Amino acid sequence: MPAAPTWDPAQYLRHAGHRARPFTDLLARVPELPGSPPRIADLGCGPGNVTVLLAGRWPAARITGYDNSPEMLARAEAEAGPTPGGGHLDFAHADARTWAPTEPYDLIVSNATLQWVPGHTGRFADWIAALAPGGTFAFQVPGNFDAPSHRLMRELAASPRWRDRLDGVLRHGDAVLAPEAYLEHLTALGCTADVWETTYVHLLAGEDPVLDWVKGTGLRPVLDALAGDPEARDAFVDEYRTALREAYPARPHGTPFPFRRVFAVARREGS
Ligand SMILES: C[S@@+](CC[C@H](N)C(=O)[O-])C[C@H]1O[C@@H](n2cnc3c(N)ncnc32)[C@H](O)[C@@H]1O
Repeated sequence: MPAAPTWDPAQYLRHAGHRARPFTDLLARVPELPGSPPRIADLGCGPGNVTVLLAGRWPAARITGYDNSPEMLARAEAEAGPTPGGGHLDFAHADARTWAPTEPYDLIVSNATLQWVPGHTGRFADWIAALAPGGTFAFQVPGNFDAPSHRLMRELAASPRWRDRLDGVLRHGDAVLAPEAYLEHLTALGCTADVWETTYVHLLAGEDPVLDWVKGTGLRPVLDALAGDPEARDAFVDEYRTALREAYPARPHGTPFPFRRVFAVARREGS
């Protein structure tokens, strides 16, 4: 199983506007929460910039962002404290592979994280059991493992020059499920579920913007694996950059970057 990568919050936040859009689209489908004030968990909160948006929708909420990356949690800590609407925001270490809530939540949300958690559907029962009656579990995962950005990365890693050093480092398409499969899991657990997919066409600015994007996420396992050999790391990035330029040509107004994402909002019955 590929190891968890080392995260670089500054690199990740370089495309914060585009990356936040699916989170706001996900929140728009979350129904009213039962608790007053609501208790909310953001699982895989990253640098905390989208966790803050939860306080915009539920101003009095008590919100905890959980993550297993010390780098991301250190960045998120800057957002912690009382929120303007009388709520509170804090952050804590937790690993989604084992996280078992110890209190009821009105909302457990997870944005762009579960693709890093192999077998994550096996965790759903514990999380849904921890919801207050009428509470919601909502998540979004990228569904772009067959897109050129990821396919080209995998092909290069598997090529004769790199395969000995990068074998098994990258995730594959089975990191996430089809929307129908998520619907099946969530309804089998007794929830009413709303599942859908969207392909965003992000218009990215600057030179080699797709490379810049994946340096914050999908490419991190390769950057980690070659971290001790900067010459090799740069050589891989150069080859990959050339392939990306062909796959994602720049247009007069920017570089279009199609990005499919899968969303699910599951409500536990009860109120
Ligand atoms: C792509 S970032 C998403 C961050 C944030 N949710 C957002 O939407 O911007 C993925 C996050 O998942 C976290 N993560 C990955 N595996 C995890 C695990 N097993 N447990 C907790 N967090 C995890 C990473 O540390 C990282 O912060």
